[in-house]
Amino acid sequence: MARELTIRILRYNPQDAVNGNNLRPRFQEYKIEETPSMTIYLALTKIRETQDAGLAFDFVCRAGICGSCAMMINGRPKLACRCLTKDLPEEIVLLPLPAFKLIKDLSVNTGVWMDEMSKRVESWIHTSTQTDIAQIEEPIEPEVADAVFELDRCIECGICVAGCGTKLINEDFVGAVGLNRVARFECDPHDDRTADDFYELVGDDNGIFGCMTLLACEDTCPKHLPLQNKIAYMRRKLATVKGS
Ligand code: SF4
Ligand code: FES
Repeated sequence: MARELTIRILRYNPQDAVNGNNLRPRFQEYKIEETPSMTIYLALTKIRETQDAGLAFDFVCRAGICGSCAMMINGRPKLACRCLTKDLPEEIVLLPLPAFKLIKDLSVNTGVWMDEMSKRVESWIHTSTQTDIAQIEEPIEPEVADAVFELDRCIECGICVAGCGTKLINEDFVGAVGLNRVARFECDPHDDRTADDFYELVGDDNGIFGCMTLLACEDTCPKHLPLQNKIAYMRRKLATVKGS
């Protein structure tokens, strides 16, 4: 027999205060019948189609690729489109991701945060080599390309940021996603930057030395990136920089 799910969702629109409406954040409860292979994304879509057209949440790909649908599901940050309701109890509580600007209900603006992080760690290839687009790209060893690709799989979902105790204490912490980005360019032979250059970007308590190794980033990352390995590697590397 199909279960009846009770889904409690935090409802709040920051624009209400701007518009003079005195609506405070509140929980709203919905009941729906569980269907086979139902995900939280599908449950939310059903609620929006049949009960509450005003409910806000984000999605694009519905396949764990775009990173848009991350939210707190029974206290843990997860992708709604990859989270099966059969793995959850009948009572489900949904909150927006902390650490990001709330747009409405379960929708947060991770894009602005990720953009600022990308600028902060200078997330682009730094090279003095003049690129000639008429030439075939300089080949690199397959195992090196694999190492870069492994770290490039990040979908910028924000889950490692939302789950990070350091980030919740220190608003300026660049997060595992930012440190992973640094590690990605550090292992890319196309990038000329040295350890000193990376130290300039993240060699402080808001960067590589701020991580308290709480491990939540790696526990929750839906792409299973080797975040703690890479953070430890970069910390050892930058700790040897002269003057650090
Ligand atoms: S490192 Fe993992 S959890 Fe963090 S933003 Fe990238 S994919 Fe999401
Ligand atoms: S909708 Fe793209 S990751 Fe969930």
